[in-house]
Amino acid sequence: MDRYLVFGHPVRHSKSPFIHTLFARQTQQELEYGLAEPAVDEFAHALRTFFDQGGKGCNVTVPFKEQAFTLVDRLSPRAKRAGAVNTIKRTDDGVLLGDNTDGAGLVADLKSHGVTLADSRILLLGAGGAARGALAPLLAELPSELVIANRTHTKAQQLAAEFHDLGPVAAQTYEQLAGPFDLVINSTSASLQGELPPLAPALIHTDIAIYDMMYGASDTAFISWAKQHGARQTMDGLGMLVEQAAEAFTVWRGIRPGTKQVLRELKRNLGEI
Ligand code: ATR
Repeated sequence: MDRYLVFGHPVRHSKSPFIHTLFARQTQQELEYGLAEPAVDEFAHALRTFFDQGGKGCNVTVPFKEQAFTLVDRLSPRAKRAGAVNTIKRTDDGVLLGDNTDGAGLVADLKSHGVTLADSRILLLGAGGAARGALAPLLAELPSELVIANRTHTKAQQLAAEFHDLGPVAAQTYEQLAGPFDLVINSTSASLQGELPPLAPALIHTDIAIYDMMYGASDTAFISWAKQHGARQTMDGLGMLVEQAAEAFTVWRGIRPGTKQVLRELKRNLGEI
């Protein structure tokens, strides 16, 4: 049977095996999908061993995405832009192809929620790996402007300069930000510590769309905060997780699974519905 897995550390609570098992059932593909949690300095060896033993493909998550970028034989253009690899496919001639489906997953999820990206003014919070992966796919949707704000302003400036050739992207400090924005995407890890990016409440209005790449059984700190200040459309990153997985599945199997039912099942497991 064709074998796939996700590498991460920690990875025990990963939802990827659940998601890909449902995708396989739905599309009648014969495959198995497992978990691997190598020690941080043993990832390269574990990856090589998995593919030497016939593995067909894998996902890569925290903290291995940047390392995976350096270990594959070939990179897709979007992986090159993201500077990180979250999906690897072993081609029939044994080449390891590194791809990145995170940004495509974000855009697909935004669209499935009916968010318009073309001509919109987007505020992206954070300038780490998650922001980097999102930038090219967001700019490809032709927003009127994409502003990056980050606690460490120089990192936002670097990212804006790096993606300048792809569209109207600028860096501003949290203090400089001036609305109105149509969409705010929180790519910071602040919610993990229950913290908030230092965004002025005046930037939140009833027609703004709020997206937090994090998710949990209850609202993230950022989503609760935005709701308190009047945002009516809020979305968490669970949909992005399912959409990036669907994109990876398509890369591996050449068939695109549906995501709606899988997302519903995941929400039920998380206790969200
Ligand atoms: P990831 O790969 O998930 O993006 P990362 O590369 O560690 O993770 O980046 C985390 C991002 O969250 C950074 O932009 C970080 O800001 P700094 O560059 O200033 O460190 C941001 N971040 C983390 N905690 C934050 C907080 N409490 N408030 C604002 N931004 C925060």
